[in-house]
Amino acid sequence: MEWVRDFYDLHQRWLAGYYLGPILDQHRDQAATVHAAVGLGPKRVLELGAGGGQAAAATADLGHEVVAVELVPAGAAHARMLASRPERGGSLSVIEGDFYRVELAQTFDVVCYWDGFGIGSDADQRRLLRRMGDWLAPDGRALIDIFTPWHAVRMAGREVRFDRLARRYGFDPEGCRLIDSW
Ligand SMILES: C[S@@+](CC[C@H](N)C(=O)[O-])C[C@H]1O[C@@H](n2cnc3c(N)ncnc32)[C@H](O)[C@@H]1O
Repeated sequence: MEWVRDFYDLHQRWLAGYYLGPILDQHRDQAATVHAAVGLGPKRVLELGAGGGQAAAATADLGHEVVAVELVPAGAAHARMLASRPERGGSLSVIEGDFYRVELAQTFDVVCYWDGFGIGSDADQRRLLRRMGDWLAPDGRALIDIFTPWHAVRMAGREVRFDRLARRYGFDPEGCRLIDSW
């Protein structure tokens, strides 16, 4: 899915202040969700579509061994920069690559994907879920942000303005899909 990389490359550049910015409270909250799911670490955590790596770094700060996979070079580079900071309590290693293709030798106690699941077709989602299942240790957990159709219906027709940019939400009732126009 070549367009996915191009889309998120633009996305990260347009919203660089957020995607390539500092660790925020919401990233600490995501890390706390991982921590609550597995208890005391260090645990092995795989984060897919990690963007600029802020949630992954916050998870490493809680003592876990985190592997972050990110498709877009700018996001992966930002995640690597965060990984190199000495204050990380656990570890963070960053793989720049496609989670549909990446080969990982180990299994994980948690596989998470924040704000991204659902791109592409239903077949793509099933393929990704199967891969996530393969990466989980026997009693591991998957944590996935899922946007429900009623969220998409509620957002339909709304426009959110950023600096020089507008995001318009629509809804395709036949395909039951969010239409995300920038
Ligand atoms: C909406 S952003 C969310 C980023 C981050 N998880 C967050 O919550 O800030 C989705 C991310 O998934 C990444 N992504 C999408 N498809 C991917 C793929 N096939 N392999 C790796 N990363 C992917 C995108 O590049 C993007 O950084």
